[in-house]
Amino acid sequence: MLLERLASLAALGATAGGIDRALFTAAERAAREQFVRWALADGLTVEQDRVGNVFARLGGVEPGAPVQCGSHLDTVKDGGAYDGAYGVVGGLEALRRIAASGERPRRALEVVAWAGEEGSRFPLGCLGSAVYAGLTPYDDACALIADDGEAFESALRGPNGLLEGVAVRDGFPPPAAYVELHIEQGPVMERAGARLGIVSVIAGQRRFRVAVDGVAGHAGTVPMAARADALCAASEIVLAVERAALDAGDTVATVGHLVAEPNQTNIVPGRVVLRIDLRSVDDGRIEETELRIRAHAAKIAARRGVAVEIETIEARATVPMETRMRLLVRAACLALDPQTITLPSGAGHDAMCVANVAPAGMIFVPSIGGRSHVGDERTAPADLDLGVEALAATLLAAAAAPWPT
Ligand code: GLV
Ligand code: MN
Ligand code: MN
Repeated sequence: MLLERLASLAALGATAGGIDRALFTAAERAAREQFVRWALADGLTVEQDRVGNVFARLGGVEPGAPVQCGSHLDTVKDGGAYDGAYGVVGGLEALRRIAASGERPRRALEVVAWAGEEGSRFPLGCLGSAVYAGLTPYDDACALIADDGEAFESALRGPNGLLEGVAVRDGFPPPAAYVELHIEQGPVMERAGARLGIVSVIAGQRRFRVAVDGVAGHAGTVPMAARADALCAASEIVLAVERAALDAGDTVATVGHLVAEPNQTNIVPGRVVLRIDLRSVDDGRIEETELRIRAHAAKIAARRGVAVEIETIEARATVPMETRMRLLVRAACLALDPQTITLPSGAGHDAMCVANVAPAGMIFVPSIGGRSHVGDERTAPADLDLGVEALAATLLAAAAAPWPT
């Protein structure tokens, strides 16, 4: 069931290079609709909130806040079949196995499909979980503008937004506890021979939008010494970003998005807009690297006679996983895989936001070749299955644990 469901989701938004399921596009909506159909077929009750997060619930013996798991159904451009989808489909599978075992969990269990984790359409990652956790006000989310020009609020109300026939609840109380199952997206577990991983901390991240304004002109007539070429300046900034991360150590920085205008062979580029993604599990290094990047950019701008403006579009501090959840995840994982390791997450996850309102933990399974955010993302089927076993055991243990709510 797990593999079949993952394969059928992978067909939604399939491209020549991978999968394209940006938030509130037809493919992403189809994935949410599929999630709802599966959840209902599994006997779960389904609701959504005002930003498109979808909640599927299995009742528990006692009342009180549920124990949640979940992840996201959106993908990056040309993304893979497991990033996000595995945590959602794996969550359904864990609940299905728990229900089939005849054991009723002490608390209700929920699987959540969080809206827009990747930030690939609207300029904010973990959008749905950030609103849920009170980190982003609903009105601020509504005002976000996608790269294609559409406002979040209009997309939400449009044909690919909120689902028809699914109750919309205004605000869900926080869960008693949260655990997210995810592929590692890096090479550490594979190298260690571990099939399960306990996440210690999720790296902090900052994202910046940098606008470089020079002077456009004729590529054949403007003398080299008289140019203010925005793309040449931007190129130096890209290299300065790389240098700053290397100098800081234990820090990664990427310019993965760059648009030159007017982008024509015989015109000196007048304007470039690029985005920087900066991460580390040490918030001090992030701060230090940001300061270095800003200083380098200012020097490059002055030397080249261009204007550089840097705007922070996202800032999330490093998030440690909660101690009790780590212990529950550890017990579940070690019982299934004695080679289980503990490792930090370089990637961001919805657990970063949910951790703001509930004890949160994460379980990783290995990524073959460490490949992710690419079409050939893979995890061995047996490892996918083992991760679901670890999730089910963690959910049952967390449902029996004495949380205050
Ligand atoms: C999401 O996958 C991120 O870490 O950017
Ligand atoms: Mn993900
Ligand atoms: Mn991702």
